Order: sequence, then structure tokens, then C-alpha cells
Amino acid sequence: MSLLEVRGLGKSYGALRALDAADLDVAAGEFHGLIGPNGSGKSTLLKCIAGAEMPTEGSIRLGTADVTRLPPPERARAGLSLKFQITSVLPQLCVYDNVLLALQAGDSLFDLLLSRSRRRLDEQVKALLSRFRLDGRAQDLAGHLSHGEQQWLEIAMALACRPTLLLLDEPTAGMSPQERRATGELLEPLRGECALLIVEHDLGFIGEICDSLTVLDQGQVVATGPLAEVQASERVAQAYLNHG
Ligand SMILES: Nc1ncnc2c1ncn2[C@@H]1O[C@H](COP(=O)(O)OP(=O)(O)O)[C@@H](O)[C@H]1O
Ligand SMILES: [Mg+2]
Repeated sequence: MSLLEVRGLGKSYGALRALDAADLDVAAGEFHGLIGPNGSGKSTLLKCIAGAEMPTEGSIRLGTADVTRLPPPERARAGLSLKFQITSVLPQLCVYDNVLLALQAGDSLFDLLLSRSRRRLDEQVKALLSRFRLDGRAQDLAGHLSHGEQQWLEIAMALACRPTLLLLDEPTAGMSPQERRATGELLEPLRGECALLIVEHDLGFIGEICDSLTVLDQGQVVATGPLAEVQASERVAQAYLNHG
């Protein structure tokens, strides 16, 4: 049984079909890439899985839970975590406090009031910062990080709730080639810890880190499987040729 099972998912914005009868399976621990031309529905699919958008039709199962209509916090409890295309770090707080807040999201108000959690979570904050090469930046304002470092901070924050499935929407957009390579190195150790569903433009990058890919075109899944299989697909070639 797969960890994530999306069936017949559709999303309409008025007359526009952003997603149309999309199926997707992600196994526990699998690294799965989502690619497709601009406007093909990648972000919409991620948003529907995360609960930021409600699908018009279809179903989404995560583990044993039907999450299709659940609000985002309940999906998080079912094991989902995400990082969107748009940055959501708190720029006026230091890097350390951003991660602390993400870890505290699971704490009771009682713990927070007694500031027990701050002491208890110190080690976890430091471990996440070191893992994402941010230990030297702990006391700097998040708003002063480089673009690449901000993306890593957000991934660290998304991991704070120990998800079984992590969703990343174009985490390497705007990164230098060095930062992109480093991002691949930072994601690799997540294997065995959680499954990953990642949207990326760079086929080289995604082909290297992912076990399998799903290709969207105009809201429809046109191919799914290992990189070599997907690359050999006639429909994928057409989708990319049609969109230049
Ligand atoms: N909130 C919205 N309202 C209307 N149309 C939208 C909205 N969000 C996305 N769309 C449209 O849905 C289609 C798919 O968008 P999106 O999922 O963002 O594509 P991708 O992430 O693959 O570039 C596009 O045509 C886009 O313009
Ligand atoms: Mg997008």
C-alpha cells in the first residue's frame, strides 16, 4: 500500500481545468519528482494535497486517513509537511527562533508559558541548524540570510514536525548552481526518514535525487515511472515540445 494515494483529482478555477483526473502514488520513504511545463498544475496538485486548496473532485489518502477534505492542521497531524514556492520564514526573527517556533508548534500552551519547551528543544534546534549548514547563522536575522540559506531554513522548519511526507515546491528556484548542488546533498540524508514529493524544473537535478517521476501537462498526468522510462515517453516529448 502506498503512503500517498491520489485518485481522480480535479481542480477547476471557473472554466479553467488546473487539474484533471490526476492519479499519483508515493510509497513510504520514496523520493518522487513532479515535473511539467509552466501552468501544468504542479503547484495546484501540491496545494490540494496540503489542503491549501480544495479539489473539485477526487480523493487523497495519506497513510490510513482520507485527508481529501481535512483542514491543513489535521493533515499535518496525519504526517504531512510542506514548503511552498513563496518563502514563509519570519525575517525579523533570528534563524534560531524560526526553527524553535516550528518545533514548538506541537507544544501545549502550558509548556510554552513555563518556557519549558525552549530549554527542552535547544538540542533539536541546534541539530536541525547544523544539518542544514546554518549553525554559524543561528543568531542572524532570517531576513539577512542568502536566498539559498532561506530555502534551507524553510526545509529545516518543515522537518520540525517529523513528517512522513515532505512536499517541496521548487526549492531550488533562484539558486546558484553551487546552492542547487548543496540542496541535493542536504536532501539525500532524508532518505529513510520521510517520503519526498518535490516540484522542480531542472530535470538533471530531479532525476538525480528522485526514485521516480510524474509528469503533468495541462492538468493531466502524462507519464509516471523511473526517469529513463519517463524520458522515453512520446507524450512527455510532446508536452515539452508544445510548450517550447
Ligand atoms: N488561484 C487561482 N485562480 C485561478 N487560476 C489559477 C489559480 N491558481 C492556479 N491557477 C491556474 O491553474 C493552472 C495551473 O497552475 P499551477 O498549478 O500554478 O501550475 P504550475 O505550478 O505547474 O506552474 C494555471 O493555468 C494557473 O494560471
Ligand atoms: Mg508552480
